[in-house]
Amino acid sequence: MTIRIVPKRTSRKDVTIVNFTEKEQCGIVQGKNGSMAISIGMGKRKEITLRKLRVAFRKTISLAKSNNLTRIAIPLQSLAFPHLNMNDVQRGKMIVENCILADYEFTKYKRPQGTHKGNVKEVVLVGTPSRELRQGISTGKTIANTVNACRDLANTRAVDLTPVGLARAAHDAAQGLPVKVTVLGEKEMKHQAMNGILQVAKGSAEEPRLIIMEYRNGSEKKPIVLVGKGVTYDSGGLNIKTGDAFQDMMHLDMAGGAAVIHTIALAARLKIKKNVIGLIPAVENMPSGTSLKPGDIIKTMAGITVEVTNTDAEGRVILADALTYAQHYQPTLVVDIATLTSAAITALGQKASVLFTRDAALQALVQQLGEESGDYVWPLPLWEEYEQDIKSAHADLTAGRTKYGGACAAAAFLSHFTHKLPWIHIDIAPRMTAADGEYLAKGATGEPVRLLIKLLEHYE
Ligand code: BES
Ligand code: ZN
Ligand code: ZN
Repeated sequence: MTIRIVPKRTSRKDVTIVNFTEKEQCGIVQGKNGSMAISIGMGKRKEITLRKLRVAFRKTISLAKSNNLTRIAIPLQSLAFPHLNMNDVQRGKMIVENCILADYEFTKYKRPQGTHKGNVKEVVLVGTPSRELRQGISTGKTIANTVNACRDLANTRAVDLTPVGLARAAHDAAQGLPVKVTVLGEKEMKHQAMNGILQVAKGSAEEPRLIIMEYRNGSEKKPIVLVGKGVTYDSGGLNIKTGDAFQDMMHLDMAGGAAVIHTIALAARLKIKKNVIGLIPAVENMPSGTSLKPGDIIKTMAGITVEVTNTDAEGRVILADALTYAQHYQPTLVVDIATLTSAAITALGQKASVLFTRDAALQALVQQLGEESGDYVWPLPLWEEYEQDIKSAHADLTAGRTKYGGACAAAAFLSHFTHKLPWIHIDIAPRMTAADGEYLAKGATGEPVRLLIKLLEHYE
């Protein structure tokens, strides 16, 4: 999709004008001189919110796509909403991001000229742009294209994406950018006693990897470390998932890892002035004669023993080692991103990812950045009371026993491996796939890349 700015409305017949109205309905209407127009009803202008505006843009693209309208024109003057207090950089980003995100289709496995509808080739913004608007448009393009690359990676099926493949994808994403990629194999991980990762991986024919990405462009030495769950397929292991447990979606269990890989690439593209490290423990969780067994007790890299009560709680076990490894970097902040629990989906539905942190100021910041970026997050508690849920009779901790409040128990578990550093845990299971009515293609959302990049910019 190309985005152009022109000063005046063109009379070209192949360009469909978009009108934002105060009505409620949206649709294709007869425009001036017999041409078609897209009418987007947004309700009362004064009541419009940033959230609604995002959806309106995505709906515009979705309507254009389903009606094969490949070129659309949006009058900039209709997009002034003084009460939203948006500056032109934000406005430009918002428009472009949502257009590009809504235009995305995952076509890797489709025949060319298959059944899927055509994309929008061109969005023409009509008006006189400020320098800030141009800047917003340019940044928005970079961000949205990276989010879409993240969606492509997450949507790739497990048959084509193993832990080794994910490491390759990290190399590919870093191609041409000042990002150093190092990959630890089994031997190196054995050396470091990363038994959490090794034990979860041992039931699979695919070898595990620990992917390390480094982007250094900050004056301060200490980095921010992003840790992403990279389970390229989660069958549940010997506690195999049943039919209604999204088993056919579990190639997406590396969505956190994909988000970290592409956030690091994006930080480099946007030349963010920070040092950022990405750590992605990559495994496949499979049942076999060599699998980890329910009840097994393993000693993690931190020296903390874990009773794996349920092998489907693999995420927290591999993250434990990655969080321990993060200590090496003496980070100023550790953020982990994981499709960790179905309990998170039960709690919030598909509307927001769950945010956990013990730092109230950080919680407020991340929530606000979520609102600004469109990657919404909502907090749940990290209370000491949840320690009860992760107690084990014979080991230091248990993974996978809880009945209620599973997202909180998982977060409490992870907190044992963060060594009192400033830390945020984001359970993105609710946002693993796009929901109906969001005007986003089925499958991966690419969240929370937009939130993470804002956090990298704002965290001091
Ligand atoms: N990857 C899943 C969580 C998940 C499920 C994400 C569905 C998105 C959609 C995770 O590894 C898992 O299976 N968690 C278990 C934990 C339980 C065994 C304590 C869960 O949530 O059921
Ligand atoms: Zn699992
Ligand atoms: Zn999982």
